[in-house]
Amino acid sequence: MELGECTRNPGYQDEDGGGSVPDTGTGVPGEKEEEDSASVKLDSAEEYTQLKPYAGMPKEVLLLYSSQARYRVPREILFWLTVACTLTLVALTITVIALSPRCLSWWQVSPVYQIYPRSFKDSDGDGVGDLKGIQDQLHHFEYLNIKSIWISPFYRSPMKDFGYDVEDFRDIDPLFGTMEDFEELLAEMHSKGLKLIMDFIPNHTSDRHRWFNLSRTRDPHYEDYYVWADCNASASKPNNWVSVFGNSSWTYDEVRGQCYLHQFLKEQPDLNFRNEHVRKEMIDIIHFWLKKGVDGFRMDAVKHILEAAHLRDEPQVDPNKPPESITTEWDLYHDYTTSQPGLHDLLRGWRAEMDGYSREPGRYRFMVTESYDYHEVDKTMMYYGTPLVKESDFPFNFYLLDLPHNTSGLWVKHLVHLWMDNMPRGQWANWVVGNHDRPRIASSAGQTYIRVINMLLLTLPGTPTTYYGEEIGMENINVTDSQIQDPAGKYNASASRDPERSPMQWSDDMNAGFNNKTNTTWLPVHPDYRTINVEVQKQDEDSVLSQYRSLSRLRQSHLPLHRGWFCYVHADASVFAYLRELDGLNQAFLIVLNFGKQSVTTDLSSIRELPDQLEVLMSTNQENRGKVLQKSRIPTGAGEGLVFEYYTHTRFNPNHPAQCYISEKACYLRVMDILYTC
Ligand code: GLC
Ligand code: MG
Repeated sequence: MELGECTRNPGYQDEDGGGSVPDTGTGVPGEKEEEDSASVKLDSAEEYTQLKPYAGMPKEVLLLYSSQARYRVPREILFWLTVACTLTLVALTITVIALSPRCLSWWQVSPVYQIYPRSFKDSDGDGVGDLKGIQDQLHHFEYLNIKSIWISPFYRSPMKDFGYDVEDFRDIDPLFGTMEDFEELLAEMHSKGLKLIMDFIPNHTSDRHRWFNLSRTRDPHYEDYYVWADCNASASKPNNWVSVFGNSSWTYDEVRGQCYLHQFLKEQPDLNFRNEHVRKEMIDIIHFWLKKGVDGFRMDAVKHILEAAHLRDEPQVDPNKPPESITTEWDLYHDYTTSQPGLHDLLRGWRAEMDGYSREPGRYRFMVTESYDYHEVDKTMMYYGTPLVKESDFPFNFYLLDLPHNTSGLWVKHLVHLWMDNMPRGQWANWVVGNHDRPRIASSAGQTYIRVINMLLLTLPGTPTTYYGEEIGMENINVTDSQIQDPAGKYNASASRDPERSPMQWSDDMNAGFNNKTNTTWLPVHPDYRTINVEVQKQDEDSVLSQYRSLSRLRQSHLPLHRGWFCYVHADASVFAYLRELDGLNQAFLIVLNFGKQSVTTDLSSIRELPDQLEVLMSTNQENRGKVLQKSRIPTGAGEGLVFEYYTHTRFNPNHPAQCYISEKACYLRVMDILYTC
């Protein structure tokens, strides 16, 4: 190599040049060099190796050094090591991602709490609850460890069906507050990590809605927004269809001279979803609220959305009944007014719109559908969608509402099994024990069972739903005929939904702390509010409220409880027992619930996978907490529930697949503290 005019190496001196360079073992002294005063001329690499690296050496010198084996080899080793480490890291990351089961979304982690806004908290003292009232009470959800709040409708409405008759889908009813109040509430909920689920009411509007007025006056654009059919003022309805609230579902409209369909009140005309403009309007409304930031929708009365266009009579349940006596929904098979073809396409379309707003992390928009299909569980399950097309995250599971019909372990197992056995693979379960349409469970099942029911709700797999007041065991109120507010009750007093809509019992103050400015409340406060209220129960470790809170925390903090296997181990006339476990984790839970009428002792000695001795982690009866019991003798009183936490390496589910369910299989890897799909 020819180095022309190199810079002199200031640290170098030749053998006879006098100066010495400390021998660091890197130079090769004694080799032949040529030097003139201005430059160093080197003919070969060997000659050059006499030089030592020095600061500011020229590129050529540097290159010469760097090609020497002692520099090159370590450099190459380091390079390939870096490549190998990077590839290993990438491979490990991909493996971990591929093997990790899905993280649970917010609607799976927390119970859903239903607020009936008229009844939750009245901030302005007019006797009706409001949005500011809800905002004032958000601490209640922090206390209960609840993140998902569904608020029943607060749209502008004439309140014939207390908000389920919507006059304007883009406005807030002044009774509940203003749009600013809503925005403030939503912002505060989000800042506290809470999610807001709204009611979406697609089937009908109020008869005061602008669209209905334009439709009855035959405005060309709105003419077919509702379901109209020929009939006359005096008699003949278009067919025998009846409203859910009773009597014909057709009402003659004088302005238009035709009948319109209403599957609920006559003040709630059914929209015509065969009209593309209606479909578009409803999608725009979904966008309106999603843009405002709401976290999900509870889709109201979905099975009624479409009706058969041919308008034929529905078959009578009792063909011998005179047609004029057909007045209730139970008199007909609803072959033409519910679950019509095309319904699921609509819902799937809405789901897709919601997915468009679900892409940012933590911003998933949740959808739950309401449909009472009673004994037709297959119809309910269709709302889960298919493996390829998503629909609701879950349809409400109303089967536990039947629990009070027969409080026994076998009955409860039957109701639970109905869902678990029919739910499509990989879907997520949910459980409802009360809502604004059904009697309160504490009244229908009895106070004795409220704790064990809450224990069931919070230890089953899937999302529990809690109707306001269930966390303290609120009961139905008695409403005299003159006090009836509910339109369904005005038609048939025994069908009134007022009893389960009474003001929330916050304290033993005036009006149970629901409001404190006046003494009006839109429905009477339950007289038991002096003992059954949030404030009193907070002070008592053994209260229904304290138990609810502990269960909610327990559920959230233990993997087997929120995402583990669910396996039946026992059911008899009194007791229903199951366990929750996760592969790879030796911690597991056994839950023994007595729904019967007396104390019993349960023998679980045949369950080999259970340890012989079990310690009570929680009991609905404070005295039994911490007790160590033999698995062959587990005593429970009527309405008592026990949660045992135990440790074992033997899993129950592999040997009993027919008794076990899981939404998504996962195993726990202790060494790395991770879950993986197994
Ligand atoms: C749903 C609501 C109910 C309402 C009905 C009509 O079933 O839960 O309260 O009356 O729809 O909108
Ligand atoms: Mg309809």
